[in-house]
Amino acid sequence: EDTLNVPVKIPIMYLPMHVGIFGSTGSGKSNLMMVLIKSIIDTNLDAIRKPNADKPRLSAFCIDPHDEFAKGVDKYGIQSIVNDMSSTTRSDVIGDFYYLTTHKSATTRDIRAYTREIRILYSEIQPRDLYSIREYTSEMSSFIDAQYHAAGENWIESILSMDEDAVSGSVTLGTLRAVKRRLSFLERSPIFIDSGTSILDEIFYAMETGRILVVNTSLMSDTEQFLLTTVVTRTLSDMRRALKSSGNLGDFDTQGQKRLPHSFFNRVKQKARTFYGKDGVADSSEVRDPRKLPVIQVTVEEAPSILNPVLMRGQSVFKDISRQGRKFNIGLLVVSQQVSVLDNVILSQMNTEINLRLGNEREIKACIENASVNITGFENEFRVMSRGEAIVTASYRELPLPARIPLFDTVYEKDRHRYKDNKTKKEEEHIL
Ligand SMILES: Nc1ncnc2c1ncn2[C@@H]1O[C@H](COP(=O)(O)OP(=O)(O)OP(=O)(O)O)[C@@H](O)[C@H]1O
Ligand SMILES: [Mg+2]
Repeated sequence: EDTLNVPVKIPIMYLPMHVGIFGSTGSGKSNLMMVLIKSIIDTNLDAIRKPNADKPRLSAFCIDPHDEFAKGVDKYGIQSIVNDMSSTTRSDVIGDFYYLTTHKSATTRDIRAYTREIRILYSEIQPRDLYSIREYTSEMSSFIDAQYHAAGENWIESILSMDEDAVSGSVTLGTLRAVKRRLSFLERSPIFIDSGTSILDEIFYAMETGRILVVNTSLMSDTEQFLLTTVVTRTLSDMRRALKSSGNLGDFDTQGQKRLPHSFFNRVKQKARTFYGKDGVADSSEVRDPRKLPVIQVTVEEAPSILNPVLMRGQSVFKDISRQGRKFNIGLLVVSQQVSVLDNVILSQMNTEINLRLGNEREIKACIENASVNITGFENEFRVMSRGEAIVTASYRELPLPARIPLFDTVYEKDRHRYKDNKTKKEEEHIL
C-alpha cells in the first residue's frame, strides 16, 4: 500500500487535555517517547530562536523506567542532541541538567555532566500523595490525617518515631503498626530523605521555564517511582492552583502558604514570583494566567498501578489533574500496555490517543471503546499492525489517522544540523 509522507502533529493546546499511549510490549512506546521528547526540544528551540513570535514553550517530566532515553536504544539518544548543541543553545533549551537519577556515580561521563540526583524531603510529601498510590483503610487514613493536623509537615517523622507504648485513645496499636509498615519503604529509599537538599525546587524551576527532564527510574521500586511522580505532579499543580486563585502576588503568597508544605514554599516563593508576576515581583503585581505559562506534561508510566478504579475512588492527585489540568496547563501522558484496567474518569478525560500494536482481543476492544473518535469496526486494522504503526485518535479530529512512527535515530539524523549553532538561524528566517 502507498503511504503519504505527511507529518502528524498534536497541537500544544490539546496536551493539557491528556494523551494516552497504548501498546503491548515491543510495540514501540519507548521509541515514540523519544520522538516526542525530541519534538518538545525542537518546539522550544524554535520558540527561543524566534522570540518575537510569542511561541509557547513546553515542559515535560518524562519517566524512563528502563533508562533508555538519554543513551538511546540503538545509536542515538537524547544525549546525542545535547552533545550537538552549542553552549548557548544548550543553556537556553536544556539548562544545567536534564537527567535525573538515583545515583549520579552510576551514570556515563557525558550524561553525568547533565545529571542531578533525585532527592525529596519527607516534609514535601503530603498524606494525599500516599493515598494516590495505594489504598488505605479508613482507620489508617484517619490516624495519618490526625498526625498531619498535629505535626504538619513533620508528620512522617512523627509517625515513624512514635513510641508504641504511648498509643492511646482511638488509635489501636494495630493501626500504628500498619501505618509504620506502610511508611517503612521511605526509610530504605535513597531518594526520600528526612534531611538534606531536595531536588523539588529545581524540578519546579525547570518545569516553569520550558524544559525537559528525563527521569531514570530503573533502579527504583514501583512505589518509589509512583510516589515521586505523585509528589512532583501535586506540587506543580498546587503551585499553579495557588496562582490561579490569586489576583496579585501578595495573594499568591497567602494561597501558596495554605496549600504547600511551608519549608518548600518558602524556598521557592521568590523565584516563583519571577515566573508568575505580570509586571515585576512586588506584592501588588498582577499574576499571569496559568494558561500563558509553559504547558507541563507529566508521564505516568505503568499507569494501571495508579490509575485504576480502586485508587480513583479516593483522593487521587491524578483524578484531579485529569479533570482540572487544562485550567493549569498541566497534562498527563499516560503510557500503558493495557487500556482495559484504567479508570473511566481518566479515560474519559483523555482527548488524544496513540494506539500502537496491542496484545490481545480484550485490549483491542478496550482501545476501540475508549478512542476519542468512533473507530468501531477497526479490529482488523489493530490485528495487522506492526511495530511503530499506530492509529491516532483525537476528539478534535473527525477521522482516525493511521500513522507510522519514525525511528528516533532516523529523525535525529535528519534534523541534527538544527542543534549545531545559531548560524542556520538567518537562513531559517529567510525561508519564512
Ligand atoms: N517506529 C518504529 N519503527 C520500526 N521499529 C520500531 C519502531 N519503534 C520501535 N521499533 C523497534 O521495536 C523494538 C521495541 O521498541 P520499544 O522499545 O520502543 O517498545 P516498547 O513498547 O517500549 O516495549 P516495552 O513495553 O518492552 O518497553 C525496538 O528495538 C525498535 O527497534
Ligand atoms: Mg519501553
